[in-house]
Amino acid sequence: VSLFAATAGAQTYPERTITMVVPFSAGGPTDTVARLVAESMSKDLGQQVLVENVGGAGGTLGAARVANAEADGYTVLLHHIGMATSATLYRKLPYDTLNAFEYVGLVTEVPMTIVARKDLEPTDLKGLIEYAKANKDTVTVANAGIGAASHLCGMLFMSAIETPLVTVPYKGTGPAMTDLLGGQVDIMCDQTTNTTKQIQGGTIKAYAVTSPERLDVLKDIPTATEGGLADFQVGIWHGIYAPKGTPAEAVDRLSQSLKVALKDPNVAARFAELGTEPSPEADATPDALKAKLESEIARWKPVIEAAGEYAD
Ligand code: MLT
Repeated sequence: VSLFAATAGAQTYPERTITMVVPFSAGGPTDTVARLVAESMSKDLGQQVLVENVGGAGGTLGAARVANAEADGYTVLLHHIGMATSATLYRKLPYDTLNAFEYVGLVTEVPMTIVARKDLEPTDLKGLIEYAKANKDTVTVANAGIGAASHLCGMLFMSAIETPLVTVPYKGTGPAMTDLLGGQVDIMCDQTTNTTKQIQGGTIKAYAVTSPERLDVLKDIPTATEGGLADFQVGIWHGIYAPKGTPAEAVDRLSQSLKVALKDPNVAARFAELGTEPSPEADATPDALKAKLESEIARWKPVIEAAGEYAD
């Protein structure tokens, strides 16, 4: 009887709502990606995948929430490159990045944009760099805290122009965008999943995209390299994780469902409108995400150490 129950249990996962933790505010770029993927996965799994926003401390609070959650397949984390950078940026993390999670798979890689409030004077990237250098004590740069993609990109920007600027941390770039629109903050480096519509609508100013080539949805915006910052490229990869010890059947089922979401024409179309695309189906696997996380920790460690900016 117990053998039958175990087998039947494995086959019936999921039996109730799955919580997908997003480690940033609602309405921001990670939330946008998560809600699109969660909607598609919900259909495939036959159970709701409910997004829960746990913002703060550059994504590390939400990651900690999942690291400490019950490993039963009903709590997962959708996080981005910050999972790798925070491993170096934080002297103390409340979880062990490489040992606290099971890997479900890669989701997407999102380009970034260097943007500003719409009435900021400079009209191109060169002008912005001159302006930032001349006004370094007053120009404010929004980010979503140490470990956020916006923090990483801002750090790369300040290091490229060899000028530290005043940073203003938020719980996500959703609320940071509200302040950029309201003119309370000057500059931000943020993902196209949060900026494309605003740039197209002319409500903010865009100076550059951080992709190797221009983007179809933002054809008029030069790449950072074209704009004068040689090799300034950054892509924000996202993955789905589960707490360490989550049963393999559940992880496999989630991975299968992620594959279905990445092939969903609605997901692909919405991603395309926002300047991104789903990861290849072959990358919606535990091995692909694990390899990406490991290589990205190694890649960013020396960059972060050279910048010398840490959180306790
Ligand atoms: C967000 O969802 O708010 C962003 O991904 C924050 C960031 O990493 O810049």
